[in-house]
Amino acid sequence: MTREIILIAGAYLLGSIPTGLLLAKAAGVDIRAAGSGNIGATNVYRTLGRTVGVLTLVGDCLKGLLPVLAARYLGLTDAWIAAAGLAAFLGHVYTVFLGFKGGKGVATALGVFLGVSPLAVLGALAIFVLLVWKWRYISLGSISAAAAMPILVALLDRRPELVGMTVVVAALVIWKHRENIGRLRDGTENRFKA
Ligand code: G3P
Repeated sequence: MTREIILIAGAYLLGSIPTGLLLAKAAGVDIRAAGSGNIGATNVYRTLGRTVGVLTLVGDCLKGLLPVLAARYLGLTDAWIAAAGLAAFLGHVYTVFLGFKGGKGVATALGVFLGVSPLAVLGALAIFVLLVWKWRYISLGSISAAAAMPILVALLDRRPELVGMTVVVAALVIWKHRENIGRLRDGTENRFKA
């Protein structure tokens, strides 16, 4: 039980590291005062360009992927794998280092889901790419891919603990996008410029 507790605490702390905020700070920018104010890859890309945006995406993604891979490597049960992924995700969204005000969790969720069900991620990515290509709203792609994820995991994987974790993560990703949803409704959401 000790290693499981250490893994969950480590996953939360790893998830809590605000990659985008730190990278933007290194470039002399407070990302919370720029663009949408979010610390995620989309806003870092928008504010500081492709290289820093992609680095943020990769860093945030690894925060989700590594704890899940560690849980798998240790041969833990699905419930612990799900808990490790959820802890990393919650670390990003409710980071202890920023007064529990973190990001929207898309890249970290991507990492978690890659570790849990890569095939389901392929399906969600297809939805994301199609919607962003058509409408140029990253938020719309993120929300739709998140909403599809539990269905895809349920169809392709069927392990109840992992499906349950996916439902919680997807619901939180959508909840964290509530301001984006308002802007999408008003027609004032930022469009993605490559
Ligand atoms: O991953 C977050 C993305 O879906 C929206 O980001 O900065 O446009 O609120 P942003």
